[in-house]
Amino acid sequence: MGYTEAYESDLIRGDQDPLPWRLRAEITALALGTDRLLDIGCGTMFKTLALAPLVRQVVGVEPNPRMLAQAHTNITASAVGNAVVVAGRAEQLPFPDSSFDLVTVMLAPHDTSEISRVLRPGGRAVLEKIGDRDKWNFKTEFGADDHGPRGQFADLDQGQRAREYEDEFAGLFDRVEVREGFWATYYSRTGLELLLEQTSAIRGFDPVADKAVLDRICQEWTTHRGIKTIQNRMLIQAWK
Ligand SMILES: C[S@@+](CC[C@H](N)C(=O)[O-])C[C@H]1O[C@@H](n2cnc3c(N)ncnc32)[C@H](O)[C@@H]1O
Repeated sequence: MGYTEAYESDLIRGDQDPLPWRLRAEITALALGTDRLLDIGCGTMFKTLALAPLVRQVVGVEPNPRMLAQAHTNITASAVGNAVVVAGRAEQLPFPDSSFDLVTVMLAPHDTSEISRVLRPGGRAVLEKIGDRDKWNFKTEFGADDHGPRGQFADLDQGQRAREYEDEFAGLFDRVEVREGFWATYYSRTGLELLLEQTSAIRGFDPVADKAVLDRICQEWTTHRGIKTIQNRMLIQAWK
């Protein structure tokens, strides 16, 4: 997934019904002014920078060089003085044990044991993850390739992912809460193409090769507000 300016565009987010929770409010409720916060898979830092006033320091970690370059630009352009970004991956975080008070993961990969390792005892984690029924109507239209269904999680039973997260965190944290939310979102055709190009929702998405599928989706799901889908996300909160 390469970074382009489209990544920060509103088109890619569509016209959304009210969300089941406000991620920033959930993070705010768990943040302390003295916290050192790590945001894993921070992308261009545009969401991370908004968290900076809540805590002592925000640190973003991101493996994609183009995202990383834009994150540096965004930090410099912002008035935020307590934010840094470093190169690294969720599976091998480049930080010592117990070096953070709060970890956030916003629609990015995570490794539960690495989160637990870098959090101090009493630390907290807030993750927003894509659910296993996210944009299900679109995913089923793209069918399968040699590696199985092209839609991310299209082979999971409903609720399976939430149960897996609960088990994963329960082993390493004192307490875990997993909430699941659904809401309708409406895209323009351009917005839908940008979304599929910029995310891993559909493996190998190609707007030219997949034109017939896109046409079918538009035909079947267009409403007066745009092309309708249901988004499904999970909110994981864990206390170490
Ligand atoms: C959908 S974007 C979300 C970015 C940002 N958190 C946000 O909410 O705007 C997913 C991000 O995860 C990053 N990513 C991909 N693989 C990763 C990994 N193994 N470890 C950490 N981040 C990863 C991508 O480069 C991308 O920036």
